[in-house]
Amino acid sequence: MNVLVVGGGGREHALVKALAADVTVERIVCAPGNAGIAAEAAVCVGPVDVSDPAALLALAVEKGADLTVVGPELSLARGAADTFADSGRLLFGPTRAAAALESSKAFAKAFMARHGIPTARFEVCTDERQALAAIQGDRFGFPVVVKADGLAAGKGVTVAAERDAAAAAVRDAMVARRFGDAGATVVIEECLTGPEVSYFVVSDGRRCLTLPAAQDHKRAFDGDAGPNTGGMGAFGPSPIFDSDLEERVLREIVTPALDGLRAEGREYRGVLYVGLMLTRNGPQVIEFNVRFGDPEAQVILPMVERGLAPVLLGAARGDLAGCGWRVTSDPHVGVVMASAGYPGRYATGQPIGGLDDAAAVPGVHVAHAGTAMRGDSIVTSGGRVLTVVARGKSYEQAIARAYDAVGRIAFEGSHVRTDIGRKALAPKDRGGA
Ligand code: AMP
Ligand code: GLY
Repeated sequence: MNVLVVGGGGREHALVKALAADVTVERIVCAPGNAGIAAEAAVCVGPVDVSDPAALLALAVEKGADLTVVGPELSLARGAADTFADSGRLLFGPTRAAAALESSKAFAKAFMARHGIPTARFEVCTDERQALAAIQGDRFGFPVVVKADGLAAGKGVTVAAERDAAAAAVRDAMVARRFGDAGATVVIEECLTGPEVSYFVVSDGRRCLTLPAAQDHKRAFDGDAGPNTGGMGAFGPSPIFDSDLEERVLREIVTPALDGLRAEGREYRGVLYVGLMLTRNGPQVIEFNVRFGDPEAQVILPMVERGLAPVLLGAARGDLAGCGWRVTSDPHVGVVMASAGYPGRYATGQPIGGLDDAAAVPGVHVAHAGTAMRGDSIVTSGGRVLTVVARGKSYEQAIARAYDAVGRIAFEGSHVRTDIGRKALAPKDRGGA
């Protein structure tokens, strides 16, 4: 089959690489892609407006795509799946109504409450007075979490240590409109504690196939210090997500979510990203996302050794019967190399050296996120530049390989965390978020 992959980050490179290895895939077009994706067996086309469903459909038609696989949530929130369905084209990803699980945190929380899905206690606030009242008194305690309702490029969540900080976050979102209309409504919620796990299932609306759980490293610096980022690295399978826990999450969270969505006329086809916190009271949902995680995809998709494309196709068709995949449980570790200054301001256009040398380390490949071609050389073009991914027989080996490869890559001001995957070596420590 011919596949169109939409997006141009590390996640999409992981998708393209995994699809290129699938025997059922003949041709891949990626829009807009990046320098690394162009070096895979893929044609990159662009520029393309991923928020414009009609443009994506036109591209799929022009390229003769049998299946379109969407990376970014924005395309789905804008209704790409609906537009494709209306014209009888297959797209992997939920409809706009189902994507509300990510595009509206207020919807997601109310949905979870309706269906008894464990999540932090919350209040949806539609004006500033209501939000400020919610953080008065001891209703949620402190720290308290303030979340912009809509899509805010991963920046809409504040964990506020005390009332003043919470009030500032409320005003920032609701009055200053830092996130635009996405902050017109906020969710105030109780702060949960425990390790975080990202769990992914692919659904056709009824059934689902599961993937190994991963753990992300959201903070910029070692030891989970510093500002939140899009993710500085990931590893999987998560050693703290054992089969008992997985069964419980399927029973208490995934099944009621898929059933609830179907019952509400929002049948879910695509990958459901369940962001979990493993609290003392059991697993609770921190957030649902309607797409693969980044950088989680870079460690999880290489684990799928057979069956990826047919599964994505089956989910898009609404029929996973007879589909299955072969997934390895070998540890995978992905270290993000970021530009100096990320997640704040950063420079771009820095030449990147050593990519081939890095890829020569056994079990290693390099997923590109923010890269571009300048003449014959590859240069940085984003905050997160690369994810260096290593497979090993053990976590020790995967970590050593990943950092061996990282050490071979050079660009001006590159920044990495040096402790990616270390939590997997000490599962008893259950190292915080
Ligand atoms: P984001 O990916 O930007 O939506 O950030 C969400 C992050 O905020 C999560 O990964 C958690 O670390 C944190 N977070 C969100 N909700 C809560 C909560 N109720 N309790 C504690 N931490 C939370
Ligand atoms: N790694 C977090 C995300 O993709 O949202």
